[in-house]
Formats: sequence, structure tokens, C-alpha cells
Amino acid sequence: LPKDLNGKELAKKIKEELQENITSFTHAFRVTPKLAIVAVGEDLSANVYIKSKQSACKKVGIDSVVFRFPETASLEQIKEHLHELNADKSVHGIILELPLPAHILYDEAVSSIDPAKDVDGLHPVNLGLLFSGKPLFIPSTPRAVIRLIEEYKVPVEGKDVVIVGRSLAVGKPLYTLLLGKNATVTTCHTKTTNLKSHTRRADVIIAAVGKPGVIKADMVKPGAVVIDVGINVTESGLVGDVSYDEVYPVAGLITPVPGGVGPLTVAMILENTLRAAEINVNNFNHHRRLYGVKGSESG
Ligand SMILES: NC(=O)c1ccc[n+]([C@@H]2O[C@H](COP(=O)([O-])OP(=O)(O)OC[C@H]3O[C@@H](n4cnc5c(N)ncnc54)[C@H](OP(=O)(O)O)[C@@H]3O)[C@@H](O)[C@H]2O)c1
Repeated sequence: LPKDLNGKELAKKIKEELQENITSFTHAFRVTPKLAIVAVGEDLSANVYIKSKQSACKKVGIDSVVFRFPETASLEQIKEHLHELNADKSVHGIILELPLPAHILYDEAVSSIDPAKDVDGLHPVNLGLLFSGKPLFIPSTPRAVIRLIEEYKVPVEGKDVVIVGRSLAVGKPLYTLLLGKNATVTTCHTKTTNLKSHTRRADVIIAAVGKPGVIKADMVKPGAVVIDVGINVTESGLVGDVSYDEVYPVAGLITPVPGGVGPLTVAMILENTLRAAEINVNNFNHHRRLYGVKGSESG
């Protein structure tokens, strides 16, 4: 039996379905879903990521536009631009690309995005909705992990799931999503003493660290499912956080890097953009009114 959790294949299937749904949507409402990507400064790997998002958008029938600001742009400038995008009826989804220069305070900037257009799901309102169990947009990477778990019918109910990493974009949303699936969830981080004692008893390990080789063979219970979110650029190419070659024989199922969570994350952004367009045509303006978003269509 193949042991790989093939994210690339699943992403392809999702994108094919999505393309059909977008065609019907565009036909029914005479509206083409549109994603706006805002990037500040020049970051090489972010640029690669932006390009892959744009080409994926094009393939499924989503319009995309990138707004680039110089490193020296002010927080006020970025916030103003986000308010303009909130008010722009042709734009359905907005992404504020990371990394940002230090003076562009992420919390403040992301809070300027209309929650109904926040396809990354990182606006405090969307995180709050997620943690209250009524999400509007689920952040793409955690959602990609859940889709992989569902596709491969990985049992999580009543199981020990150990997440390594507690970022707002990955580890924390995963924690609440897996609790929702009745897993017993442990979240580890840099202050965790004896990481191995946790991972070793896990039925499912999810690594979202950003360092190669954090998960080694002796840290994995034989037969455990290992999901690697990490993307690290090394001299030998792109690798995850898991020492794939040595963990492979021990694991029950494992994600390759590349070809695991990465391609699925992009597919989830596309899905969220269609959802944003649907919300828009269904005139869910109450979200905007409720949260007093500046520059909203409803004033
Ligand atoms: N596949 C995809 O599509 C996708 C999408 C997003 C991100 N990523 C990748 O996923 C990785 C994580 O991303 P992120 O945004 O969550 O990163 P992040 O914000 O840097 O968070 C990393 C987390 O890992 C923890 N950590 C670091 N070193 C550790 C160690 N030795 N032992 C245990 N915990 C440790 C940190 O703990 P503290 O909180 O204590 O600092 C932190 O919570 C990166 O490689 C990123 O490139 C992939």
C-alpha cells in the first residue's frame, strides 16, 4: 500500500471540481470571482508563492491582481489601500502577503480587511468565529491538513494528535479544528520540555515548525500518521520539518514535501475566494455592518 498522503493529486481533484463550480457561478451571477493580493517589500520566496497563486487562480477561472508596495510604505498607506479594496465591488477576496516589514504591524493591517473578504481567515473576527465553531473562512493551511485527513480517512476521534508549532496561521487553528473532530490535542512549541515524549505517543503528528529534521524516526510511534506542513529551502532543495527518508519506514502514512500540504493550501485559497464571491452576491452585508468595517459597500 502506498504510504504517501498525496496532496498534489487531491489538490488537482479539488481544482477540477472548483473550476466547474466557478463556471456555473460566473454563468449564474455574471460575476467573475476576484482575488487581490497585497505585498509589501520584495521577498523572493513570497514572490514565488504569489506567482503560483496567480497561475492557480487563472486555471480555475478566478481573476487575480497583485498590488506591490515598496519596503518603505507606511502602515497608514497599507491600511488605506485595504479600505479601498474593501469598497471595491469587483474584489471578493483580499490577501495580505507575509512576510511584512517590521513597521507594518500585522495585527493592525489584517484588522483593516473586511472579514467578509478575508480569504486567509486571519482577521480577529474570523479567528473568533473559527474558535466559536462557526467559521466563515478557515485559514488555508490548517484547512488543507484537515482535507488530507478526511480524504485518507485518518481516524482522529478519540486519538492522540500532537501538533508541533503554535502559530496563528497554522498551529492554533489546527488545534481548534482537531478538537472539533474529537481528537485529544497536544500543542508543542519551543518551550516544550522533552518534545519526543509527546510525539512518541501520538497517533497523528503534525509538524508546523519551519526547521528541517525536527521530527526524527525515534520520535514516531510505529504506524503513526505524520503530516509535514514545513517548507524549508535547503542546499539539497525543498524539505519539510520531518526527516522523511528515516521516518517513512516507521510511519503508517506520511506527507511528502513537496507534494503534500503545499499544493492543497493553494487549492484552499481558491475555494475560499469562490466562497467570498458567493457571500458577496448573497449580499451578506450584515457582516460588514456588524463589525463596522471602514470602506464597506454598505457604508
Ligand atoms: N504547506 C504550506 O502551504 C505552508 C503554509 C504556511 C506555512 N508553511 C510552513 O510551515 C512552517 C511553519 O509555519 P508557521 O507560519 O506556522 O511558522 P512560525 O510562525 O515560525 O511558527 C513556528 C512554530 O514552531 C515552533 N517551533 C520552532 N522551533 C521548534 C522546535 N525546535 N521545537 C518545537 N517547536 C518549535 C515555534 O514555537 P514558539 O511559538 O515557541 O516560537 C512556533 O510556534 C514553515 O516551514 C512554513 O514555511 C507551509
